[in-house]
This record gives sequence, C-alpha cells and structure tokens, in this order.
Amino acid sequence: MSQANTIYLKDYQEPDYLIPKTQLTVEIFDDCARVSSRLSIKKNHSGERRELKLNGENLSFISVKYVGEESIAYDLCDKYLTIVPKSDDFILEIVNEIDPKNNKALEGLYQSGDIYCTQNEPEGFRKICYYLDRSDVMSSFTTRIEADKVDFPRLLSNGNLIDSGEMTGDRHYAVWEDPFPKPCYLFALVAGDLAKVDDNFTTKSGREIALEIFVDHGNEDRCEHALESLKKSMKWDEDRFDLEYDLDLYMIVAVDAFNMGAMENKGLNIFNSTCALANPDTATDANFFRIESIIAHEYFHNWTGNRVTCRDWFQLTLKEGLTVFRDQEFSADLNSRAVCRIEDVRALRDSQFVEDAGPNAHPIKPASYMEINNFYTPTVYEKGAEVIRMIHTMIGESNFQLGMKKYFDLFDGKAVTTEDFVHSMEVASGRDFKQFKRWYSQSGTPTVQVTSKFDEGADTFTLTFTQKLKNKSDQVYHLPVKLGLLDSNGEELELIMQGKSFGTETVLELHTDSQSFVFEGLKEKPVPSLFRAFSAPIILEMETKREDLAFLLSYDSDSFNRYEAGQRLAKLEIESLCEALRDNKVPQVDHLVLDAFSKLLRSANADEAFKALAFAVPSLVSITEQQKEFSPVIAQKAREILSHALAEANEDYLAEHFNRYNAKENYVFNAENMGLRSFKNMCLHYLLKLPKADYISLAQDQYDTANNLTDRFAALQALLQTQSTARDEALEHFYDLWKDDAIVINKWFAAQAGAPVGSSDQLIKKLENVEAFDIQNPNKVRCLYGAFAANLPQFHKEDGSGYHLIADKIIELNSFNPQIAAGLSKAFKKFGALKGQQKDFMKKALEKIIAVDDLSPDVYEIVSKTLK
Ligand code: PHE
Ligand code: ZN
Repeated sequence: MSQANTIYLKDYQEPDYLIPKTQLTVEIFDDCARVSSRLSIKKNHSGERRELKLNGENLSFISVKYVGEESIAYDLCDKYLTIVPKSDDFILEIVNEIDPKNNKALEGLYQSGDIYCTQNEPEGFRKICYYLDRSDVMSSFTTRIEADKVDFPRLLSNGNLIDSGEMTGDRHYAVWEDPFPKPCYLFALVAGDLAKVDDNFTTKSGREIALEIFVDHGNEDRCEHALESLKKSMKWDEDRFDLEYDLDLYMIVAVDAFNMGAMENKGLNIFNSTCALANPDTATDANFFRIESIIAHEYFHNWTGNRVTCRDWFQLTLKEGLTVFRDQEFSADLNSRAVCRIEDVRALRDSQFVEDAGPNAHPIKPASYMEINNFYTPTVYEKGAEVIRMIHTMIGESNFQLGMKKYFDLFDGKAVTTEDFVHSMEVASGRDFKQFKRWYSQSGTPTVQVTSKFDEGADTFTLTFTQKLKNKSDQVYHLPVKLGLLDSNGEELELIMQGKSFGTETVLELHTDSQSFVFEGLKEKPVPSLFRAFSAPIILEMETKREDLAFLLSYDSDSFNRYEAGQRLAKLEIESLCEALRDNKVPQVDHLVLDAFSKLLRSANADEAFKALAFAVPSLVSITEQQKEFSPVIAQKAREILSHALAEANEDYLAEHFNRYNAKENYVFNAENMGLRSFKNMCLHYLLKLPKADYISLAQDQYDTANNLTDRFAALQALLQTQSTARDEALEHFYDLWKDDAIVINKWFAAQAGAPVGSSDQLIKKLENVEAFDIQNPNKVRCLYGAFAANLPQFHKEDGSGYHLIADKIIELNSFNPQIAAGLSKAFKKFGALKGQQKDFMKKALEKIIAVDDLSPDVYEIVSKTLK
C-alpha cells in the first residue's frame, strides 16, 4: 500500500525563481533521448536568496553547471534537483537522459507507434528535464531537435521554425522558437515519419495562417473534417469573441496512444487520433460532431488557457470550464442549439451529477488533491462550464463579451485565478458575484424545491423556491431561474410582477434559502415551465401531475423543457414499473404515457433530431441515480418494458418512417442530415425491440448496404439487442473488415462490452485476447474495460465477477499507466449505495487494489476515498 501527500490550495506560494528564457536541445537516439537545457533564471522576490528546487522525475541525471563554469554543488533526489544559487540572476546548463521507448505512462516524451510525442499537462515536463514545473512560471522557449533523417523526417515544436538543416551521420536538426512566453505544460515536441495535409486561413485582419495536420501515412483521407472544423473555429472565435489567432502556423498531430482527448500546446496541438481523424467510412455522426467540438475546444484554448493561463492547478476550471462553455456555444451556433443543449445536459447528468453524488465529489475549484491528474473531471470541465453559463444567463451576451474584453485587458500574458475571471465579469456588468462564487468552492448538486399556489380571487400565481444543499457547511447559492408560464392552450402568458411586465420569458435570481415570486393578472391556473434551457445545474423537485408533463411535452416553447417533461414522465412510469417488478406484479404501461409519446412522434412542431432525443427512454444511469435502492437490473428491465411498449404502440409509424428516411444518398455531415439519420436509426432501434424476423432483416440489410459508418454501426447496435445469427455475422464481418484499423475497431469492442444482451465478464476475457486488443493503448482500455464498467447490470452482477475483473485490470494498469488505472477506478463510485453481499463483493475488490505494493497516488486517491 502506498501513501500519497495531500496538496492544499491554501498553501499556494509564489515561485521563488522565474525562468524568463528556456533553450532546449533534444537529441533523439535509438536507445534514449538526451535533453540539454539552458535556463535563464531570476529571483522573484526581494527577500533573502533561497534554494532552487527544480522538479525532475524518472530522469537520468548527467550534469548541472552555471554557464561558463566547471562545476556546482547540487543535491539530487528522485523528485528534485536542488542548488543554492550564487546570484539573483544566472544561467544554468543541465543535461539528462530519458527513455521515451519505455514510457508507458504516456506523460513527458514518449513513443506512440513510431512517433515520438509529448504530453506535459499537468506535470509531465518534469519527466523530460529538470525545471520549475508549475504553471505560474512562464518562459520563452527555443527548441532544437536532432534525430535520424530517415526515421524522423518531421521535427516539430511550438512557434515558428527558425532554422533547420543536415548533420553528419544521417542526422538532421530543426530549431523552433515560440515568441509567446508559456508555462512548460504547453511545451510540445513531435518527431516522426508523418504525412502532412495542409490548408490555410485568412484572419479578419488579413493575416495568412498556415494550417497543418500530421498523421500516419495512409490516413491523409481522414483529415478534411478536422481542417474544416479548425477553420470554422477560427472564424467563429473572431465573429463571436473578437479573438484572432496570434501565430502564423497552427499544427495538429494525431497519435494513437494518448491518455486524454487532445492537448492545446501552443501552436502544436496533439490529438488522440479518435478525436481528429474521420471520413464517412470510419467515423459516425457522433464522431464527426465530437471532432468538430474538440478541434474547437483546443483552438479556443489559445486565448482561454494559453494567452491567459492558470496560476496553479486548483484553478484548472478557469481554463477548462470557460473553454468548454465556448466550445458548447460554438457547437450550438453551428448546429441545432436545442439539440446541443439537450445533449450537453444529458452528458452532465450522466457523468457529473453522478460524480458529485459519489465518493470523489469535489468543487469545480478543489481545495486539495493528492494527484492532480485525477481532477480532469466532468465537474471541473462540465459543471465548470455550467457555472460560466449561469454568469452568461444573468448578465447577457453583450455584458459577457465586455467581461471577456476586460479579462484579456487585465490578464493577457498572465497566470491567474478564477477570482480574476469573476472580477472581470463583475466590472463589466456592474454586478456583485460574491455569493455566486460559492459555486466554485462547494461540491454536490443542490436541489431546488418548488411549490406553487394559484389564488383565484386575486388572479395571482405564486412560485416558491427552496434550496436544499448537499453538505452541512454549504451556504445557499446565487442562481438564475429562466422561466415562462403556459395557459391551457399551450400559449405563453405575459409575466407580470408588481405591476411590471417581463414579457413571456424572464430570468429570476435566487439568493436566499426560500424565495417567492408572485405573478399577477392570471385568469386561470398556468402551467409553469421552470429552469428553461437548464438555466442552473440543480435537481428540480416539484410535484407535477402526469397530465401537466404530457402537456409540456406537447406545448412548451422551450425545447429543453419539452424534452425534460417527457423524460420526467418516462421516469415516473419507469419507477412504477420497477415497483410492479419488485412486487412480482404484472407490469402495465400507463396509456397516458404511451399517448403522450406517440403524439410527440407525430408532432408537426418538432424536427427529427429533436424527436430522436425526446422519444428515447431515459438513460439507465439517470434512472438508477433516482432509485431509493440502487438496482440496475430491475431498472434495466423496466426500461425495456417501456421501450417495448413504445415500439409496439407505434410499430407501423416507426416502420414507415424508417423506410421514408432510409435514402441512400451520399453522406454529408451537417446538422440536418445528422438529425435525419439519428431519427431513422432510432426507428430501427425500436423496431428491433419487437421479435420479428422482418426487422432483423431490415437491420441486416442496412448493415450490408450502408454507405457510411453511422448507418452501418447503428444497424450493428440494433442487432446487438437481439440474439440472432445476423448479430453474430455482422460482428464477425465488422472485425474482419476493421481489425487492422486502430480507430474503427475500438467501436467493435465498446459495442459488445456495453451491449444490453450478451456482454459478460467471460466475453471481456475473450475479447482481450483478440489480436486487435492492446492494454497499453488507452483508447482500447476505455472501449473494452471502460465500456464494460459502464454497463451497469453487467458490472454490478450479483456474483461480484464484474468487480473482480475490473479490479484486476486496474492493478495491471497501475504498474505502467497510473492515470488510466485511476480513471477506471472511478467505476466503483456506487460503493456507498450498495447493500449486503453486493457491497461485500465490491469491498473485497477495492481492498485487493489498495493492498497493492507500489500503488500509484493516482489510484490510491480514488480508491481510498471510495472506501471511506
Ligand atoms: N487540456 C486538455 C484539454 O482540455 C486535456 C488534457 C489534460 C490532455 C491532461 C492531456 C492531459 O483540452
Ligand atoms: Zn481543455
């Protein structure tokens, strides 16, 4: 068992020394890489000179000296190189070696396939050379790379190429200079034999930017979408945020072995290949969409992250929450805003709400951590974006843009805190966000209870909002409630409070634990539509009649709330079905529910993309999160009963509309076509809930004849609900077709591991032995073990087999890639909700992990907090 130190935000201290200039030489050899650094160092305070402690991990130290001198006294341990400087301003020369080939943790400089690449956020740079590896030390970097010409024709780093040439012995070199000072976590280096696909973009001020994507040879035909997405991102950031790109070159490199999605290194983004490469045969609509948003996300970091960066890692949400907000807005502006919002909220609830209710809950700005790698979470990212969105909702777009201007005026080129950001917004809007800042320091999803009262004689309707907080020490939040009221015809009513009109939609703000608002001039009792567009990340608790939910599903003018009404209605029904199943009664599906959804399916005032989302039953996660007693098996059964009933009640309509949209046109990726495809494939998915050979043939036919992966893969997933030879044949065919393709084959793993039928620990043990699997590749780990752990009925199987399988994999991964091992450890988050034998099984599995000898702090932090 290991121990891990806890690091606290309150202990933050400014660095004793700064490094205004960094010159690196990286020589790549067959068996190692040699790093020579020349660091200009300056004292950063007026007091006495203290020792200089440079971070360094897994480095083979060779030498340290002042420039022009012979030797120097130093102290070396496994984490630091320490010297006592002889002046306030000096230059150090340090040499060390590293072993990229055997770096399986994928932090620092490592090998992915035949390519050398880096990953330095948050603390990877210390695995390349001795340095002040902290984000408030910003430096101008010059980087010289030397390597074999044949194996490494491309030598890339940040900024501009200022020199390159031949050397003796088949070697060559390149020198890069980045004019923008940056923290070392934004440093990047790539060396390898890569194909280049290029394009260009002219900025609004008329500057020509070269855009270059580097990929493995053979993948050139998968770059177009990323390039288009990049150009759209650059244009959008100019149009909406008035932000222009600042270098003359923007490079993206796609690699197969990467711990996360992508990395915003200055001028040289490095991407997980799944998040960059796509063509219609190898990527689904969802992949295309995700690539567009991740390309945008990394690009937007250039201003929110790179130009203005984080003072320390507790401030991570400063760049991540804000940049997620920006990429969400980009996607919403380019596609259907309603669909984007629904999907963002769905993802937030299925991951972040669960995290916030579990053992690893933390505020978007944590007060402490053991391992910062564990805090790249849905909370810091997605809840962080919701917090920014609330500010936006309360002050409006134009004030928000003024706030952004202020932020860059005050902090460009600096490493700052979340307070600095909120301050900019306060100054620009004239608002006080002191209370609002509690969103940064409190964890857990707050609940807002709402009651209403209609007073007939007075023609008033009163809404009372009460906050229920998660933790004892929490204080009430400041939050926006966007709302409207509907009359019995589904028309929007005018909102009048204290004699003043607020139109038909307004934003109220809550500040206290209980607040009432009185709406006047109402002749009949209205139906309220609250928290429109999900205006605050809360759980709404309000008794609403099934009839009212059905009514909102038909009439609400706010698409999100329309969707939400349907989901709440379906959840009520699933809850009743669960009860019937528990009591061994024959479950009967309520006609009101079937009618409401059938009406939605045929509704003229909703598009296909919306229907595909709103007609889908709630996710298993969202159902189990609301269960009094966590039981995914029953929840899954109830969910299937409702799905089956919906399919049966609408069979003809689904079949007809499946055919209607099953056009064999050329694949085009845009919001409209994506919506049509998702609607069509939703029809197919429902039809295969019905035990008819005809429908299996339908899916089989789509699988065989599809001209794009969206349709082909949807057919495969529809078949995965069945036990049929068609299913087995399709799986076999898919494997033969794609087994050599690192990206596509992962979908085959994920689909089977996550399937409602046929997945099991036995299957996983079979799949991990197929040739296309490789536990050292994080994408494969996520697609096989990750997908299995997210398959709740399988992972939580009664005999505990799921827990032990995943525990064993965590232990195996811990020995070479702690970050990925820790990610998988989060699968045990329902520990606190389990009972009896099930809990004992999980406890055993967790204890097996915690007993491992050289357990990483990454895994230790997650598992020890889970067991607590
Ligand atoms: N900073 C990256 C992003 O959000 C995520 C990342 C973190 C990538 C750590 C790698 C390592 O865009
Ligand atoms: Zn990011």
